[in-house]
Amino acid sequence: MAKRVLILPGDGIGPEVMAQVRRLLDRIGGFSIDEGLVGGAAYDAHGTPLHDDTLAEALKADAVLLGAVGGPKWDTLPFADKPERGLLRLRKDMDLFANLRPALVFDALAGASTLKTDLVRGLDIMIVRELTGGVYFGEPRGIEALPNGERRGVNTQVYTTSEIVRVARVAFELARKRDRRVCSVEKANVMESGLLWREEVQTLHDADYADVALSHMYADNCAMQLVRQPKQFDVIVTDNLFGDLLSDCAAMLTGSLGMLPSASLGAEDADGRRKALYEPVHGSAPDIAGRDKANPMACILSASMMLRYSFDRTAEADLIDRACQEVLNAGIRTGDIVEPGMTPVGTVAMGDAVLAAMDRLSGA
Ligand code: IPM
Ligand code: MG
Repeated sequence: MAKRVLILPGDGIGPEVMAQVRRLLDRIGGFSIDEGLVGGAAYDAHGTPLHDDTLAEALKADAVLLGAVGGPKWDTLPFADKPERGLLRLRKDMDLFANLRPALVFDALAGASTLKTDLVRGLDIMIVRELTGGVYFGEPRGIEALPNGERRGVNTQVYTTSEIVRVARVAFELARKRDRRVCSVEKANVMESGLLWREEVQTLHDADYADVALSHMYADNCAMQLVRQPKQFDVIVTDNLFGDLLSDCAAMLTGSLGMLPSASLGAEDADGRRKALYEPVHGSAPDIAGRDKANPMACILSASMMLRYSFDRTAEADLIDRACQEVLNAGIRTGDIVEPGMTPVGTVAMGDAVLAAMDRLSGA
């Protein structure tokens, strides 16, 4: 049975990087693919950043692949209509609580990092970000007018035991397949929600994951350690907001935001399947959109994560990862990762190169 994949290219560079993924999925085969609108594109067509019908499609799909949302064109819209709300609603209504953001430095790109090559060569970190709770969704929230003429903006950082435990469990399980180390990150020194986070993660560890080494770190220190000595980390588990910040930081260790894929997973159902959405960590990059400049690799690697985590097609996922590696080794680079003496290419040519490498590696 063909797997149902819903593709939501979104805004900015989303459609052009997704076009390369589409070619790749067509080549691999075995998918029944639908496309839909999200973000500003959905707002322009339907007056909402995520139409109910699109959400219903996403809930029925075996996996969702998303490009990027947002752009200056929609910046002045009211909060509820902003492109980002479309993405946040997908995450929330699909209950995708665990966001996996691997920061992996390809050997060929160690020199492209702004950090010293020794610090990042061989780096392989997995950030597990809580994605459906915390300050992103906490109530009360809003902007109110005060009697004295001032205004007051409110957001609420809130976590419950079950929200913490389910995402920590994902982190511990992943660590068991890696280097068996988890660093849990919060601000327990200033936030009660952070203290609860620390205590619940520790309790879960002691009960079920004593074979994994657990450490705790304050988020500000973690930001510093990520650029000081990034290889000290294996799996990092943290809340929604800290995860947003720290994953951008970790992304730059790898040379470019244009290289980072992500997977957002829900709970396992009775058949062991999880709802899942895959998206590059980079944004919509409106400044280079539509100019054949964007790096499609983060989106291609997101499709590889989909094959690995949703469809158990490990051989094909490995093939894509190796093809990307080979293309980078050959010095074929989009503008974000180009170095002197290498071959600068555009989005489509990068897609061509990855497909050609897949053909070579698979002997097709
Ligand atoms: C991310 C992005 C989103 C977030 C935005 C686009 C809402 O920065 O996926 O990291 O803040 O979660
Ligand atoms: Mg972000």
